[in-house]
Amino acid sequence: MTTKAYETVLVEITDGIAWVTLNRPEKRNAMNPQLHFDMVEALTWLNTDTESKVLVLTGAGESFCAGMDLKEFFRELDDKPVERAASRDADKRWGWYGLTRFSKPTIAMVNGYCFGGAFTPLIACDFAIAADDATFGLSEVNWGIIPGGLVSKVVTEVMTHRKAMYYACTGRSFDGKEAEAIGLITSSVPRDQLKAEVTALAKDLMEKSPVVLRAVKEAIRAVTHMTVDQAYEYLESKQEQMRFRDDEGTRNRGIAEFIDKKTYRPGFEPVGKK
Ligand code: ACO
Repeated sequence: MTTKAYETVLVEITDGIAWVTLNRPEKRNAMNPQLHFDMVEALTWLNTDTESKVLVLTGAGESFCAGMDLKEFFRELDDKPVERAASRDADKRWGWYGLTRFSKPTIAMVNGYCFGGAFTPLIACDFAIAADDATFGLSEVNWGIIPGGLVSKVVTEVMTHRKAMYYACTGRSFDGKEAEAIGLITSSVPRDQLKAEVTALAKDLMEKSPVVLRAVKEAIRAVTHMTVDQAYEYLESKQEQMRFRDDEGTRNRGIAEFIDKKTYRPGFEPVGKK
């Protein structure tokens, strides 16, 4: 097991899973500038680290993340444009770009409160599994601000327009079950099954070819904003690229095992590792 403790983030790598824990439980893991800087460093390291195959983002204690730190990120930086810009830059670098472009699958394990700015890294993760009793809220309106950063944009990518408008304008909170029903997360499970469910998903993903999985997640994200013609063009090029990127020859091996050897059914299981 490899462990690395930053000032506000804890990383533990076990059995191929990098557990990345936002670690300010006394502040319900609200994101202060230091947390943004620490997360940039942690993701930069983990993106190319060879010990971990899947990343899980979670929070210490009873909270996933209570959003932006209203004191340290907002009030204290209001009149410090240089520090504000540095923090915003780090926030963007990990909370959206770092996670959406991460080379391995990412899972948000929502163990408790998830408010405001926390929706961006939540949605940036490829999968999100929450405890049924986790509490979500687009509470910005209650603070006299809008869901800024990228929150207003990304919520409309996963929730319906109606739900995004409703929760952003009312600031009402909702639980894991509702988060699943409106498409914000992948699934919601009883709290005592949360870690097992996330671990099972991570293990499932680790069975796949990492090169192929990376291309699949890049493709799913990339086509969202393309026209049909652009998507055809992009996906064809991406498919071609795989012939060079997939140095394990997963596709040819899969076809050979299915057609010639008749040793496996790809509809149900991943191509066996080489
Ligand atoms: N920013 C700064 N500090 C915070 C934040 C935050 N977003 N959330 C919690 N804290 C701090 C509290 O100030 C408190 O600090 P203190 O002990 O020094 O007084 C500590 O965390 C614990 O907070 P409590 O409110 O006492 O904890 P409780 O468990 O009762 O409630 C809850 C947790 C529901 C998360 C509550 O703290 C809360 O409503 N926080 C704000 C959540 C929110 O609306 N976030 C969005 C911010 S706006 C944005 O992200 C763009």
